[in-house]
Amino acid sequence: MKTVVGIDLGTQSLKVVFYDFESREIVASQSAALDLYQNDKGAAEQQAHWWLNALTEVMGKVDADIRSSAVAVGVSGQQHGFVPMGQSGEVLAPVKLWCDTSTVAECDQITTAYGGPQKCIDEVGNLILPGFTASKVRWFANEGGSLYDQLHSIMLPHDYLNYYLTGERCMEAGDASGTGFLNIHDRTWSSDMLKAIDPNRDLSECLPPIRTESGAIGHIHTEASRKTGLPEGIPVSTGGGDNMMGAIGTGNVSSGKVTMSLGTSGTIYAYSDKPVIDPRGEIAAFCSSTGGWLPLMCTMNCTVTTELMRGVMGADIASFEAQVSSAPRGADGVITLPFFNGERTPNLPRAKACIIGLDAQNTGPENLLRSAMEGATFALRYGVDRMRELGIEASEICLTGGGAGSLTWRRVVADVCDTPVTVLEQDEGASFGAALQALSLLEGCETGDFQQLVDAHLTRNEALCCEPKASAVSFYNESFANYQQAVNAITPLYS
Ligand code: XUL
Repeated sequence: MKTVVGIDLGTQSLKVVFYDFESREIVASQSAALDLYQNDKGAAEQQAHWWLNALTEVMGKVDADIRSSAVAVGVSGQQHGFVPMGQSGEVLAPVKLWCDTSTVAECDQITTAYGGPQKCIDEVGNLILPGFTASKVRWFANEGGSLYDQLHSIMLPHDYLNYYLTGERCMEAGDASGTGFLNIHDRTWSSDMLKAIDPNRDLSECLPPIRTESGAIGHIHTEASRKTGLPEGIPVSTGGGDNMMGAIGTGNVSSGKVTMSLGTSGTIYAYSDKPVIDPRGEIAAFCSSTGGWLPLMCTMNCTVTTELMRGVMGADIASFEAQVSSAPRGADGVITLPFFNGERTPNLPRAKACIIGLDAQNTGPENLLRSAMEGATFALRYGVDRMRELGIEASEICLTGGGAGSLTWRRVVADVCDTPVTVLEQDEGASFGAALQALSLLEGCETGDFQQLVDAHLTRNEALCCEPKASAVSFYNESFANYQQAVNAITPLYS
């Protein structure tokens, strides 16, 4: 047996899949939980060594024979996190993650130094938002003291795992486009943006080269092989951000498809063969990891919302599913604005969640749980509409992420977005995408040539696909308008 390995470094857990590409079977799929440090100032951090421990743990759960069958590896990782690395590869500080909102002041400082939001959008394609890496680097310059002086390499989470596995320091364009300092048009670092982040230092010296061509970035070295049980010397592909790998894992490698990920974050994205720039900056102008672009909208509170409320209600997954399916559409008027961790879209980093519309008749666990699910979905519907305004049509939505496992949630997405929902048999999303990218090394695919590969290895799970129902669609159009009105009403409270 020969397998390709996909590793996905998420926010809540690190996952791994071993895919036997000859029999087209996932032969092992394991995960290890990750801690997350958060505080009331919006910090959201992890220690990089937690990721390495999780990697050793997860590999230890996979049979040694399966591990030794691996012939190539690909790594996917949560986007945007800033891993400040010193000269000898030591990590100088906790990693501020994509969901850290403590850097609002730094975003303003960079944007002003660069010449304003319009210039950011016109020249590098994106606004400087708290989620993106740029403001975390500035924060480290402001707060890191002598540790900042020791900064040698700016790495993203998946770059750090690549470094751990191979000893190579490099980036790839998809994940790099989430930094805010990559010019997404020509995939080069923006020296003006780097100057706006720190005028006193040439930050380009801390940036590893960007890999845009296909081929391995390196090979599993001795120490990594000893820790993981992966064979020494097997190639490692460039990897990428979890959404970029999710695009491969859901077959979103040519125009005309939309993927929605119901994970810790909610994302909606589509491959495009040209950059898609949103003049409002709500749809991020990212690059794909398959040679094109990946316009994407991200919300910071997707399964965060349902998991939090499920915890409050003490409901296990089965009871959660039973309750959300028994509650009426629209949760009897209960509306959840799911901004538990602040929010990126709408750009309200200081927002808090609000539950409105409660009365003596409708206040009950079923409605609260259902409105949590609906609120997280309405937030993403905003992105579906905005993508349509920018010319990206969603003729179907391919669902991935933990929430895609819920029958009610799949139906809610189809009805709220008035779009058929597709689910794949290979439902591992980002980790499977990373495994397919690893496979591309063996098949000699060029970066822009993934269509055949995804056609050969992805299949629809017909039993889980669903169509929107006309009566539900018109009901939800009205509920969505009410949701948007509530968002507008609370915006001044948190601006
Ligand atoms: C996308 C984003 C999130 C993270 C989650 O811009 O911030 O989806 O990648 O891992």
